[in-house]
Amino acid sequence: MTATAPTNATRGAAVVRFAQVTKSYGAAAVLRGVDLAISPGEFFGLAGLNGAGKTTLIKCMLDFCALDAGTIEILGVPHSEPRARARLAFLPERFLPPYYLTGRDFLGFMLSLQGRTFDAPAVERMLAALDLDPAALTRPVRVYSKGMTQKLGLAACFLSGRDFFVLDEPMSGLDPKARAGVKALLAELRGRGATLFFTSHALADVEEICDRMVILHQGVPYFAGAPRSLCDHYGESSLERAFLRCISAPAHGHG
Ligand SMILES: Nc1ncnc2c1ncn2[C@@H]1O[C@H](COP(=O)(O)OP(=O)(O)OP(=O)(O)O)[C@@H](O)[C@H]1O
Ligand SMILES: [Mg+2]
Repeated sequence: MTATAPTNATRGAAVVRFAQVTKSYGAAAVLRGVDLAISPGEFFGLAGLNGAGKTTLIKCMLDFCALDAGTIEILGVPHSEPRARARLAFLPERFLPPYYLTGRDFLGFMLSLQGRTFDAPAVERMLAALDLDPAALTRPVRVYSKGMTQKLGLAACFLSGRDFFVLDEPMSGLDPKARAGVKALLAELRGRGATLFFTSHALADVEEICDRMVILHQGVPYFAGAPRSLCDHYGESSLERAFLRCISAPAHGHG
């Protein structure tokens, strides 16, 4: 596939812009010069095989690890400055709240860190949207199931009042009802102009949720475009088959 002309996502104001981001762990090169920009209001999905570097790219964005080369800007601010993250809500891949807190305490702490008050009716509405029993809030998070824990993390993100959501495998461990709830919440956020950067192995979710996707493979974006255009490019009706065709194509970079 040949490089395309710059789109709105690659010029002008971007919510996040990666330029030639390179990251190795020891001798293992994980990111090999990633160029990527996400526009305001864009819903963006990052796909790729296990170990492709999706979480590493997010950790680089959040300044959890040092870059070997390249730059990242969030809303025009260098990513290493804390103010770059002022509008960002993050759900990690393995969300593990402190085990000794109750769900209520956890949400309370997260909201106070974000300068917000605990608005009980808003919290109740959020729990209902995520299908998490409000009675769970009085229990310590160590007794939560995996899906309940994930719902608590999502609730904290969605209650944050932020407008740039970075969610690393947000559907992980969720039942079909909760997945539908998350999609409805995301649709609501889209209506309010929020921006989404998320990773997923569920290509059906990527197709349903995203305006644009990137397949990260061998340290570079292999494909960037609307999920349907990936299918069209390979003449496949299934995004999964198009994905497999894409990653077995000869190496090529693509912003
Ligand atoms: N702290 C670390 N030290 C050494 N290697 C690491 C570290 N973190 C990640 N890696 C390696 O970097 C590569 C990319 O890992 P990463 O977690 O970014 O992949 P991923 O695309 O998020 O995978 P998955 O789909 O399984 O979540 C893997 O080979 C992984 O072993
Ligand atoms: Mg990951």
